[in-house]
Amino acid sequence: MGGAVAVPGPLRIAVVGAGPGGLYAAALLKRLDPAREITVWERNPPDETFGFGVVLSDETLGGIEHADPVVYEALRREFVRWDAIDVAHAGRVVRSGGHGFAALSRHRLLAILQDRCRGLDVRLNFRQEAPDVRQLSESYDLVIAADGVRSATREAYADVFRPHLTQHRCRYVWLAADFALDAFRFETARTEAGLMLAHGYPFGASQSTFIVEMREEVWRRAGLDLMDEDASIAACEKYFAPLLDGHRLSGNRSRWTAFTTVVNDTWRAGNVVLLGDAAHTAHFSIGSGTKLAMEDALALAATLSEQPGVDAASAAYEQERKPVVASTQRAAAASLEWFEELEQYAGQPERQFAFNLLTRSRRVTHDNLRLRDPSFTAAVEADAGVPDGTPPMFTPFTLGGLTLRNRVVVSPMDMYSSVDGTPGDFHLVHLGARALGGAGLVMTEMVCVSERGRITPGCAGLYADEHERAWQRVVDFVHGRSTAAIGLQLGHSGRKGSTRLMWDGIDQPLPDGNWPLAAASPLPYRQGVNQVPHELDSAGLAAIREEFVRAAQRGARAGFDLLELHCAHGYLLSGFLSPLTNRRTDAYGGDLAGRLRFPLEVFDAVREVWPKERPMTVRVSATDWAEGGTTADDAVEIARAFAAHGADAIDVSTGQVVPDERPAFGRSYQTPYADRIRNRLGVPVIAVGAISSWDDVNSLILAGRADLCALARPHLYDPNWTLHAAADQNYEGPGAPWPLPYQAGSRKPPTGRTDGPKPRLTLPS
Ligand SMILES: Cc1cc2nc3c(=O)[nH]c(=O)nc-3n(C[C@H](O)[C@H](O)[C@H](O)COP(=O)(O)OP(=O)(O)OC[C@H]3O[C@@H](n4cnc5c(N)ncnc54)[C@H](O)[C@@H]3O)c2cc1C
Ligand SMILES: Cc1cc2nc3c(=O)[nH]c(=O)nc-3n(C[C@H](O)[C@H](O)[C@H](O)COP(=O)(O)O)c2cc1C
Repeated sequence: MGGAVAVPGPLRIAVVGAGPGGLYAAALLKRLDPAREITVWERNPPDETFGFGVVLSDETLGGIEHADPVVYEALRREFVRWDAIDVAHAGRVVRSGGHGFAALSRHRLLAILQDRCRGLDVRLNFRQEAPDVRQLSESYDLVIAADGVRSATREAYADVFRPHLTQHRCRYVWLAADFALDAFRFETARTEAGLMLAHGYPFGASQSTFIVEMREEVWRRAGLDLMDEDASIAACEKYFAPLLDGHRLSGNRSRWTAFTTVVNDTWRAGNVVLLGDAAHTAHFSIGSGTKLAMEDALALAATLSEQPGVDAASAAYEQERKPVVASTQRAAAASLEWFEELEQYAGQPERQFAFNLLTRSRRVTHDNLRLRDPSFTAAVEADAGVPDGTPPMFTPFTLGGLTLRNRVVVSPMDMYSSVDGTPGDFHLVHLGARALGGAGLVMTEMVCVSERGRITPGCAGLYADEHERAWQRVVDFVHGRSTAAIGLQLGHSGRKGSTRLMWDGIDQPLPDGNWPLAAASPLPYRQGVNQVPHELDSAGLAAIREEFVRAAQRGARAGFDLLELHCAHGYLLSGFLSPLTNRRTDAYGGDLAGRLRFPLEVFDAVREVWPKERPMTVRVSATDWAEGGTTADDAVEIARAFAAHGADAIDVSTGQVVPDERPAFGRSYQTPYADRIRNRLGVPVIAVGAISSWDDVNSLILAGRADLCALARPHLYDPNWTLHAAADQNYEGPGAPWPLPYQAGSRKPPTGRTDGPKPRLTLPS
């Protein structure tokens, strides 16, 4: 282990499970200190294991090479290497190159690790159930629980590890084909029961892993739930006959399974540590389970060498591995969900479908695909009508009668800087700067339709003449000096009103001067903290609808190009949509149609007065991230309803409806919700949330997962975000023109030269 200082480690180590994780940990620990007494228990015989091939990345191989060259050399001799991914969909195969994979058979991997353990004098007990873990914990210095996804150790200490197991919606079976594919292969098969998918890759001279996966309902319709292994194999041979071309599939105790994602709050219980699948799983579609288990083993062996005792070592192991694993699990979750929702992409043109599939986990992006295989990306772009030399984000997009120059939107951001609802110089400078910064569309913050509909005393309004004049000044500047369009977001705070400025305590009631709140139901945002709102009666509903109408009329007069109705984040209209905040028993509550009634009435009334050619969008919270709340499927229905009433696009945010939400934050974490609406309904969407790089914007647009991308915080960091994205990509076209007065600065400022003078002569010494 390069650079690690050997300190006396634990002497007696028990390992439960002889999968790749357990065996590799045992071998490394013994190699680092031959005095250690290491015993491994495995209930199966040494040559019996499930599955066929495993894929390892170059990164893992690098770690293995340094840690134990003997194992690395043995693995290297076995590898099948290839660099292409083929995506076969709707009868056409699209190839993308330059990826770099290595695979070998799981049998051979285990045999190599077993040999290494034997050579190092690790005690291997095959065909033996491990002794009770509590007993092991008492008689050994360290117990490594590498007992796989169904780990009994994890269950025995469930109160400490606190595992969370999630079963997913697809069924899959791990089979082998008797020929070597020459690439990673994803192949869809349209059957009477529904869409099925094969994931295949070579792992030997004449063998390929062949995983067949489909939604559970498709699996049942096909009758696969009633078939034994042989019948299932025969059925899969039939579904994928064109690919197999007479070749056969075989099984190895192959059962249809629903993938389980395993997460544990902690991986340590006293001297027992979880490792590999026992601690965490990542969907096989990103091929990382074995890699993660072996990397865990590397990290545990290293920390046991570096730290003074088992406690410190296992704490360091967990601290080092958890963030890496969490990141892989996020990518795996995105990949898994993509395959779960495969049907929604089935209508995409083949090349866009392939690009979408390849970028599904967000780890592969437009920019790195362009480097790996420029002709593939160029072909996808050409199919999508992207002009040569234009990054997809700089293509125009039309909403109603409004054509935006590019796909970047400055997302609505409350500045809490208005006085009595009037936006001032701050707004002119703030929105003006962002309009000059190149985005196609700049949105105002939520502009409130009445004094009582404000969130805080600093919120902007559009319910008085001075508000209208102040907004017109901002709009005139944007129209006169920039190429951006400007959109107005209209909203009413509902039960989240009468609170402090963001920096004085978000969602906290005012210390004094609170105003009464109105909402769908008399439920406070935070029990005992926020005011109880009064439930709106029909007169109250009509009055608020009128406030929206008058504000929209003012907005039209002020010259805004687009109007967005704010039906997200738990404010008044969002409060009607969510079953957690709307408990009404009248026509405005109950089922989704009832909960939609008031927001749709407001939408219709506003649409009526908003100029026809100017588009309207609706921002929704596509999930409440809370039990019993709005779900992704509800959001599709909500979007369908607004689109049917004339919304030109849906702006898809999530959450902030109830305080006890549990959002799954991460890069672009809300985009799957936008994607689902776009691809199920064919309705344009604005994606938002932790989209931070231009590469992500290009990827989302080209994959057909979003039409526009809204960025909020990145625009606080850099008002010129879009212009800088253009400069970074050497783009100088019409999608991002620099304002004339700024043109002298349209190149990245040069930095000092780092390349010294080249040696011209080499003299003999
Ligand atoms: C369909 C499918 C495809 C996959 N494809 C890939 C891929 O391409 N690449 C990749 O890297 N990974 C892949 N994986 C994941 C990979 O198989 C696992 O992530 C990996 O095997 C985890 O290693 P492990 O050592 O943690 O657990 P395992 O390999 O599951 O080993 C655990 C071992 O513990 C033994 N055991 C359990 N309890 C006891 C007990 N009480 N006493 C004795 N023995 C016990 C079990 O018999 C088993 O042998 C795939 C998984 C599936 C299901
Ligand atoms: C300071 C601030 C104020 C915000 N105000 C609003 C708002 O008025 N209306 C709205 O719909 N969203 C508002 N948001 C949410 C953003 O529009 C956006 O959805 C969210 O910040 C996620 O995008 P990001 O990751 O690019 O920041 C606000 C966000 C920030 C950071």
